[in-house]
Amino acid sequence: MDVLPRHQQRCVELSVDSILCRWSFICDPYKNAPFDRSHRLLLFTRMPLTSTIRNANALSGLLLVLFLVVHLGGLTSALGAPASFEAYASGLHHNPLLKPLELGLALTSLLHISLSIHKGLRNRQAGNTAQLNSRRAEPFAAWASRSKTIAGVITLGFLGLHLQQLRFPRPMDGHEREALVHVLHQPLSLAVYGLGALAIGLHLVHGTEAAHRSLGWLDPANKSAIRFGGRLLAALLSGGFLLISLGLALGAQA
Ligand code: HEM
Repeated sequence: MDVLPRHQQRCVELSVDSILCRWSFICDPYKNAPFDRSHRLLLFTRMPLTSTIRNANALSGLLLVLFLVVHLGGLTSALGAPASFEAYASGLHHNPLLKPLELGLALTSLLHISLSIHKGLRNRQAGNTAQLNSRRAEPFAAWASRSKTIAGVITLGFLGLHLQQLRFPRPMDGHEREALVHVLHQPLSLAVYGLGALAIGLHLVHGTEAAHRSLGWLDPANKSAIRFGGRLLAALLSGGFLLISLGLALGAQA
């Protein structure tokens, strides 16, 4: 039995067609694919979920960048001011907010990793194997974008080793720097820390701009500033972690 009279059904069909037509015009990746109308409607209804996933992935990535800024800030005193570094580390360990913050960090990391995998798999299933060629004649940015998966995987590998060495178990109060120097005196560890720092920089060159674009915060007026700011931040974080690792490995006494 028809729920709507015939003329109203036709009207609904026309509206759906008009929305689909507008959507196809703006952003339909399947524009030229031989899909029928119901298949296109299915793709259309999935769009809000796709954009929620994209936004959540972008926001979780930006939160992790915030963690890196705080983490690097906390580590800087390890090079030149060992006593204040130990005081900072002990203060952190006894802060009641540390547990909830650690849990939040772990959940944010898991969300970012799983949404990135989900996005990658969907792209692959959609048959998107295109290689990115930058029309801006910026081979480095195009390379950073192509390398986002491998840079993410290297970062994850580094993180596994890093947490196993310095978090599980955590160094005792007053021995944080000693544990750090002990780790960085091992050539293999130092190599992994260096590689991790470079991979994070590369991941951020792509990630900071991509996150702003996904969230709709990039527009013609601010795009140069956001690109420049993102690359500067990537260079500072990557260079900072590299410098601290090398400084502690080569210069510091345990
Ligand atoms: C120069 C490079 C780095 C050094 C020397 C360093 C040092 C440390 C130290 C000493 C801790 C233990 C803190 C504690 O006592 O609770 C720690 C924890 C941690 N680091 Fe790093 N870190 C470096 C780079 C990184 C990078 C690049 C990342 C992210 C990819 C990272 C992620 C973490 C995480 C997630 C924890 C555990 C935080 C917690 O749960 O309390 N670190 N790091």
